[in-house]
This record gives sequence, C-alpha cells and structure tokens, in this order.
Amino acid sequence: MEPSQSKILIIDDEPANLLLLSRILTKAGYRAVETINDSREALPAFACNQPDLVIVDLHMPHRDGFEIIAGLRQHTPAGVFLPIIMLTADTNPEVELKALKLGANDFLNKPFQPVQIALRVRNLLHTRQLHRSLQEHNQQLERRVRERTIELDTARLDILERLARAAEYRDFSTGRHAQRVGEISALLARKLGLPEPQVELVQRAAPLHDVGKIGIPDEILLKPGSLTPEEFEVMKTHIAIGVKLLAHGHSQLIQVAELIALTHHERWDGSGYPRGLSGDAIPIFGQIVAVADVFDTLIHERPYKRAWPVEKAVAEINLMSGRWFNPKVVVAFLQVLAEQSQLLKLEASV
Ligand SMILES: [Fe+2]
Repeated sequence: MEPSQSKILIIDDEPANLLLLSRILTKAGYRAVETINDSREALPAFACNQPDLVIVDLHMPHRDGFEIIAGLRQHTPAGVFLPIIMLTADTNPEVELKALKLGANDFLNKPFQPVQIALRVRNLLHTRQLHRSLQEHNQQLERRVRERTIELDTARLDILERLARAAEYRDFSTGRHAQRVGEISALLARKLGLPEPQVELVQRAAPLHDVGKIGIPDEILLKPGSLTPEEFEVMKTHIAIGVKLLAHGHSQLIQVAELIALTHHERWDGSGYPRGLSGDAIPIFGQIVAVADVFDTLIHERPYKRAWPVEKAVAEINLMSGRWFNPKVVVAFLQVLAEQSQLLKLEASV
C-alpha cells in the first residue's frame, strides 16, 4: 500500500488543531485524513474506518486521551501493529510515561514543528507496513508448511496401502481383504472404546498384517487344498517375514503394524503362533485383527475353500469366543455386526 493511501484518524477537541494537523498531513501527501472533535465518537469511528494510524490529544471533555488509547488497545487484534501518537500541551513528564505505558507509540508536545509530526507519522506507517509484510510472509509460510505436511502424510499412507496391496497381489483371490480387515478392525476398536487416534491407527496398520506373505512360495500360498504340516510351517514364517519388513519403524503407525503382524495369529487360549501367548498377554490390536482377519477370510473364497455364508461365519466366531478370541472382542464384533448392516453386505468375493 502506498503511504499516501494510509488512513489517519485525528482526535482533538480544538477545531483549530484539527485543521492545522490535517493541513500538515495533506501537504505531506496523505489523502485519507479523518478528524474528530468529539472524543465520544473516537472508538466508533475507529471501528468503522479501521485507520492505519491514530493521533490523539490528551485533555478533552467526555473522554481523555488516556481513555481512548486504552480503548484502542483493547480493540486492536493481537499481532496487529496500530501506531498511536499522543499530542498534548501538557508538559508534565508523568503524562508522557503514562501515555507510553498505556500503549502510545510516540509522544509529542505542543507546540510542534510541522516536520516533526510529518516525520513521526511517516516512520510509524513505515513500521506498520513492515509489520504487515512480515505477517503476510509468516502466514504464507504456515500455509506452505501445512500443505507439505498433508502431502507427506498422504504420501506415507499411500505407500503403506500400496505395500499391503503388493503383498496381496500374488494371492489374487483375496482382493481387498487387507483393506477390509483394516475397516472391520477400526469398527471393533471403536466399539471396544479405544480412543479415536488408536482407532485410526489400527485401521491404517491392520492392512499390513499379512505383508510377510510376500515371501511365501506360490506353491504354498496358492495351494488349492489344505497344507501339509511342513507347508504350514513355511506358511507360519509370514509372521517373521512381516516383522522383519516392519521392524525398527520410526512412526507409531509402523510400530503398531509390526505388533499386529507379530500377534494376529496368537489365540486367546494360547494355542496360536508364533509365541503361544494367551489372554491379555496378546496386545489388544492383535486380538482385534485376529477376529477381523478370520471373519473376512471365512466369508470370502480362498484357493482352498469356498466363501462361507455370513451367518455360518458369525456362528464360527461365536464358537471360538474364549478359545481363539477374547470374548470381549467377540461381543464387540456381534454388536458391530448388528449395527453395521453394510458389513453383512460385503461382497461375497472380489
Ligand atoms: Fe496372517
């Protein structure tokens, strides 16, 4: 903004003073000078016109200059630099101190030289301009940082989703299995009362539970019948491979994904693998994903089995409550199922 466009508000009860000041400022090139001689109108005029600089007299009827400065400071938004100059014939040194304490930026005694006021106005407006540019620059930087953070977050989640997809790619019959396990796990976590950030975490991390299958040979991964004990041992190594892939993650998301990859085949009664953990020694995320994984696997086709009807799968989950699964998670599962009818409508096979 050109200095000549700056809006200046002058408050003085003496019309002669107002005339003199506005002449000086007009001569100095300022085009938008507003004068007020009734101090009661100062604050409404300020609120209405939002001047860039205020010049105020001290001794006035109704409201004195101190009161006006205090009022202006109350109405100046945080971070905005509004210059205020106090102009007075009062030479008491206490007056200057009080004005500055209340928030005046400059103080000038009458009588004054025209050049004194013109230079002070110019300097203060220049500072206001710099202040404004700095603020705009900061806002621009904050906006850019926000944009970059969103971009990085999206890229990070995108990569994780693609990693889960890569693991599924070889096992073409599973389709969106990994994503659905994430979605079901989130519903269960929410029903179990986990805080929302944890719910989101399990939703994003659970799809990576079988990422280790990337290292299982095709003849085992895609075998149409049931596995021999030796083949099953090889299949079990998808846990160790997944943990290796996700180990030493720096983000909470990868750390939870590692925990889920490690524990989603543990069973409540201790008959699971790889460590045979039982009860609450199994982390809650592992307990949740175990139910979500088995349910989704049952209701979809696999190389070794047909898709089960939802009712049969639900009966199986119920039967395994307290054996494979934490009974509390099974209760949450049944509640979610009753509430979320779309879960029943999940595509039979993708
Ligand atoms: Fe698995």
